[in-house]
Amino acid sequence: MLIFSKKAALQAHLDTYIKAGKGIGFVPTMGALHSGHLSLMQQSLEQNGVTVVSIFVNPTQFNNPDDLKKYPRTLEADAEKISGLNKDIIIFAPEVDEMYDGNTVSSHYDFDGLENQMEGAHRPGHFDGVGTIVKKLFEIVRPTNAYFGEKDFQQLQIVKKLVEKNHMGINVVGCPITREDNGLAMSSRNARLSDAERNEAALIYKILQGARKRFDFESIAEVKSFVESAFEAHPAFKPEYFEIAAEDTLEPATLKENRKYRAFIAIFLGNVRLIDNISLN
Ligand code: PAF
Repeated sequence: MLIFSKKAALQAHLDTYIKAGKGIGFVPTMGALHSGHLSLMQQSLEQNGVTVVSIFVNPTQFNNPDDLKKYPRTLEADAEKISGLNKDIIIFAPEVDEMYDGNTVSSHYDFDGLENQMEGAHRPGHFDGVGTIVKKLFEIVRPTNAYFGEKDFQQLQIVKKLVEKNHMGINVVGCPITREDNGLAMSSRNARLSDAERNEAALIYKILQGARKRFDFESIAEVKSFVESAFEAHPAFKPEYFEIAAEDTLEPATLKENRKYRAFIAIFLGNVRLIDNISLN
């Protein structure tokens, strides 16, 4: 299988597909791949002439240097997982300097306020880093379709806005959250949980499901207070935020209107920060 580390070589290789009118499907990742990533790749394989997967731990989107240091880097195992799925998938795994030319900083983006909510409010500069790297990767890969998991729903909405504002003409496809059997949303960060914590973490989805049931007949304030009390009874969890927000603007909702809502949570279990979300209507 082909693994590129240089952007010029990847671009030259992809030129032949573009000239032949073959659509490129793209799955950007930071590696430490799990079944959630593989399901994005599977969808891309079914919908495109060729699939490219990038593996790049992007320093500019980490607001916490310790988190960046501890982020798992498992290129060899990742390449094996990808080739187990399909040997025709092309991997792009550049070094930091190849992407940032010795200037590892983000550009500043205005995503019409999407960047100020939830993850944006709690991780300053995070979405500038995501916008910077995703734009660079899109310009190199030039995909027809790009696949993002709904676990990072705010990121998905921001990437759609990035494409719209920069007239990039890329179809950004949101894919459902892949969960462990116990309901825990799959994430590369789960590798940092102990076995006992992984079992405990099932509570997050259970409580989100409880919130969804209540959303039909309770006020938003009541649903929020149900979630807060539910976690108070489990002191191993330290919620960072729980929000109910409209899917399009991601602004926290106080009253229900005729629009689509989701519940979003970021929570610490031990020293591992987990996020999850659920559609409410
Ligand atoms: O979701 C991720 O893994 C990253 O934020 C992404 C989109 C690959 C950009 O670094």
